[in-house]
Amino acid sequence: MKSIQTLFFRPFHLLFLPLLTVILLLSGCSSASHQRIVRIGHNQSTNHPTHIALTAFQNYINEQLGDRYVVEVYPSELLGSQTDMVQLTQTGAIDYCIASNAILETFSKNYEIFNLPYLFASAEAYHHAMDDPLITNPIFTSTQKAGFTAVTWLDAGTRNFYTVQKPIESPSDLKGLKIRVQQSPTNIEMMRLLGGSATPMGFGDVYTALQSHIIDGAENNEMALTDNGHGDVCKYYSYDMHQMVPDILIGNNAFIEDMTKEERAVFEEGYRLINQVQREEWVKAVNHARDKAANEQKVQFLYPDQAPFVKACLPLHQSVLEKNSAIRPIYDAIQNYNAWYPTTAQ
Ligand code: GCU
Repeated sequence: MKSIQTLFFRPFHLLFLPLLTVILLLSGCSSASHQRIVRIGHNQSTNHPTHIALTAFQNYINEQLGDRYVVEVYPSELLGSQTDMVQLTQTGAIDYCIASNAILETFSKNYEIFNLPYLFASAEAYHHAMDDPLITNPIFTSTQKAGFTAVTWLDAGTRNFYTVQKPIESPSDLKGLKIRVQQSPTNIEMMRLLGGSATPMGFGDVYTALQSHIIDGAENNEMALTDNGHGDVCKYYSYDMHQMVPDILIGNNAFIEDMTKEERAVFEEGYRLINQVQREEWVKAVNHARDKAANEQKVQFLYPDQAPFVKACLPLHQSVLEKNSAIRPIYDAIQNYNAWYPTTAQ
């Protein structure tokens, strides 16, 4: 369920954005002392592993540097959509936000790589590749000129199709269906290759669009069914496993560079903590979501043959690599992880 504040905020947030930027810029210090307020925005609920991890970060910074910094976490799109929050982080109106890797592709083309469907052979290959700085560093630092840097990644599981009426057993079932995708050119192209009609929109608008039949379905991890209520409307969830798209914590460059060496080391330890807590919480949250979706929302889980989905999507690897040769070495390094971890352990 969306908070009242989020519902109120949404229709006006574009109008409010410049005003919000000024208010946030003017209020960077807590009035009680000279503590610097550190604002972090995200689009998940307060039950979500992402929020739990950011709360752990908030507590950790408070313990270590509480005399100098006060961390404030804004959940549920209170500061706008992910695209809005990335822009606020760019200008320094807020200090950090969590954005899906899909959104970041429009800020640096290098992010396209982690949006490729069927890039990772298994969850293990995905996790090991994302933990390898040789793979992530060239991507995470590619937005230096845009004013922000990625400081860690968060697990967002596997993305699968779910629909209101028609179960998806093969790509041909997507024909004629309007499916919400994230606002990323790679995702739009993926839907075209699979034969569906891509309807890009922000995450916070998906529930209403499903309910009012503006779209026939969407694609996401299992948490979207329960935590965002999509399973109240969509009764078929098909494990075609088309993407493992990480979420990324980005920070404003000027804020990060202004810290002392010692403060930066503490924040870096905090980023590691976010990654660790979120991943531990993620496993529990997904199991709980599957259980709730099946037993309370009566969502039917389907296990289609993935081969036709993979075949339809693979041309996208070639076309993205041809247009951006800089990501080729990273793509090749990921193939090594795929060879080492070819299947997900059950
Ligand atoms: C997941 C992901 C979010 C993203 C959302 C979406 O929930 O964790 O970062 O915004 O999918 O589909 O937009």
